[in-house]
Amino acid sequence: MYLYLHALIKTHGYFETLVNSDLALFNRLDVSMENYLQTPFEIRSQIWKELTRSVNDKHHAWRTPVLSTVALDEGVNSRTVVLRGAHESENHLLIYTDARSAKVSELEKNSQAFIVFWSPRLHWQLRVKVNISTHTTGPLVDQLWAKVSQSAAASDYISPSAPGTQLVADFESVNTDNSTEHHFAVLVAQIHEMDWLELSRNGHRRAKIIGNSWDWLTP
Ligand SMILES: Cc1cc2nc3c(=O)[nH]c(=O)nc-3n(C[C@H](O)[C@H](O)[C@H](O)COP(=O)(O)O)c2cc1C
Repeated sequence: MYLYLHALIKTHGYFETLVNSDLALFNRLDVSMENYLQTPFEIRSQIWKELTRSVNDKHHAWRTPVLSTVALDEGVNSRTVVLRGAHESENHLLIYTDARSAKVSELEKNSQAFIVFWSPRLHWQLRVKVNISTHTTGPLVDQLWAKVSQSAAASDYISPSAPGTQLVADFESVNTDNSTEHHFAVLVAQIHEMDWLELSRNGHRRAKIIGNSWDWLTP
């Protein structure tokens, strides 16, 4: 956009007055083209890098996206979750949850969902259309629970009451059970489509990514 603007000014002198104020603004903002990703391949690759980073970086804004599902009454339900896995080779994302939570029942009825990320540092929004399979038993759950059960997060999955259960007085139903039974579940979100939006001083950009195909969209 910046280069395009310069070329336009050089070839069309009369255009200069029209864009002078915009150009001054660009210069004042000190727009850096150094890290400006140009090709769909570069952008797609950076999206996966950021997703992978966010799994291990507690300060990465993409670590806590919003997961939206179709509610049991056919309405919409959304909640914040932690991104636990991002695997480009499998084209999927992983989320951990309690097997008794509403989102699991909702996804078992309708596996379609959206996961939405926003990063103020990157100025990137990513909306990911997914189909989510729920895993409450099996080798994947056993393998991941072996790790999670050793961490502080284990308590999130061994509460005797299901998430959303009304509490009785003095919170007495919480953690009074010494049972080692867990309710750990893994959500595997298979990606169908990504809608990437970049807010930038160089001009906003938006693209729809399906597999290796790419369409630029009006932001
Ligand atoms: C920062 C943050 C991270 C969260 N991470 C998770 C998570 O990884 N898994 C999860 O099931 N709930 C997580 N929650 C709680 C959910 O937002 C939600 O309240 C809970 O899962 C019940 O949702 P549901 O009844 O729609 O299933 C998180 C909440 C916050 C505020």
